[in-house]
Amino acid sequence: MGYNRRDFLSAVGVSGGAGALFATMGALGLAPSAEAAAKGTFDPPQQSDFSLTGRSAKKVVILGAGIAGLATAYELGKAGYDCTILEALDRVGGRNWTIRGGDRVTELDGSTQVAKFGDGVYLNAGPARLAQWMVTMDYCRELGVDLEVFTNSNAQAYIYHQNMRAPVRWRTAKADVYGYVSELLSRATDAGALDAALTAQDKERLIAFLSSFGAVGDKASGFKYSGGTRRGHSVNPGAGDQPGTVLGPVPSLSEVLASGVGQRFAFEFGYDQAMLMFQPVGGMDAIPRAFAGRIGRQRIRLRAKVTRITDLPDGVEVEYEDRHGRTQKIKADMCVAAMPPHILAKTAHNLGPEVQAALATPTATNAGKIGLEYRRRWWEVDEDIYGGVTATDLDLATIWYPSYGYGSSRGMVVGYYNFGAQADAYAALKPAERERRAIEQGMKIHGAKYRDELASSVSIAWKLQPHIEGAWVGWPSRQGAYQLLGKPAGHVYFAGDWLSYMIAWQAGALESARKVVTELHQRVLSTS
Ligand code: PHE
Repeated sequence: MGYNRRDFLSAVGVSGGAGALFATMGALGLAPSAEAAAKGTFDPPQQSDFSLTGRSAKKVVILGAGIAGLATAYELGKAGYDCTILEALDRVGGRNWTIRGGDRVTELDGSTQVAKFGDGVYLNAGPARLAQWMVTMDYCRELGVDLEVFTNSNAQAYIYHQNMRAPVRWRTAKADVYGYVSELLSRATDAGALDAALTAQDKERLIAFLSSFGAVGDKASGFKYSGGTRRGHSVNPGAGDQPGTVLGPVPSLSEVLASGVGQRFAFEFGYDQAMLMFQPVGGMDAIPRAFAGRIGRQRIRLRAKVTRITDLPDGVEVEYEDRHGRTQKIKADMCVAAMPPHILAKTAHNLGPEVQAALATPTATNAGKIGLEYRRRWWEVDEDIYGGVTATDLDLATIWYPSYGYGSSRGMVVGYYNFGAQADAYAALKPAERERRAIEQGMKIHGAKYRDELASSVSIAWKLQPHIEGAWVGWPSRQGAYQLLGKPAGHVYFAGDWLSYMIAWQAGALESARKVVTELHQRVLSTS
């Protein structure tokens, strides 16, 4: 019997799954690339897993309709598991929350804001950007969520530090830093300062690179950086006899170093923050909405606050308070607790003192955002900025320009997106005071129109969001507590971005959900 390469590969695929198949292909030199192998493999549970083994689908109660909870129900649902999601809020998505006109933002300190945004204007109050390599992109494809580019880096946006007289465009900052660094390194190389590390040919090639990287002059000029069109123009090139005017004057090397602009550049080198990045068209909540549609809304109980988790010899019982304040109970074979750890730590359970201590181990970080709606898209019309982020050392941290609705009449700027102590400072203020402070700070970059053309605003402090109480968590280590919660406590599994190496990303929640789904399903299939 002929046994060709294709038969061999498909045999490996049947017994070992896609991971083994891919590894075998790699060993045979057939895998497309090493990068492609960086993706984890996931085989969703299937109907046939039950029908072919004579088992019946189990009942699973999922705590929390954030991204992890939704993905768990969606994937288990593919095999026919009977899933019910309990969600304390009156919406799905958890931190994935898109605020539009009419939406209410109520915080734990009792303040309530009602968004007055016009049609088509929205604030992604939580997650707002997706990296191309993240599994979130795959879910968008599978769920039919349309994507568009999210502009995370824009040469035309600004860097502003309080030691500057005026904000500097990213392009200008880069031209100056790359230019001066290239000048210095070219001179040192040419003078022989690096001869111990470089051959004569290396030196020549390094100098050629620096000439192009930094746009510096030739050897005769001393490799001098003297500015150029990369800095931008004070008068743009035009028709006829208008060559444009290069932006000047060029600051000195010492001034460029003192400004600290170069220390901003690393942000966009990050694996998770590098362009291109993406966002769902119309708002990030397209993702939870699509999940909820596939799961079936009837499986999701909103305004159902979990009050007790009891692991039983043969399953699990969850007690919750329903929308009418009545105590309800639900029994299931398995439970997936996809709530924040610090909220679980405040929930009654019988999972033991070690689990309790583990749940209390990670610490919640705060983050804040304010959406500033403007009557006019002055950042486009006056400043030629179409999307992107301005980085500052002000307590607002960053200002974001919208990556949608270009050229329309109104639009929304994120007036601050900050974490930690800066977010705490804004959280301590009433919404009107947050707006005042954000405007006062932002005017240092954009001037009086930043105040005068404001139409409305909404701000959020994640540590004050009921049932969430934080933006994300940090672990002291990935040992101990993290390891313990990566395993089920009886019939209770834990899921969330907090149990991944992608904390503060939806991808972390999705990968965690896939891990729990795989483990839970394997357990169900291996017991009778
Ligand atoms: N994912 C969040 C964001 O993009 C939080 C985060 C910030 C994560 C910076 C990593 C680095 O803003």
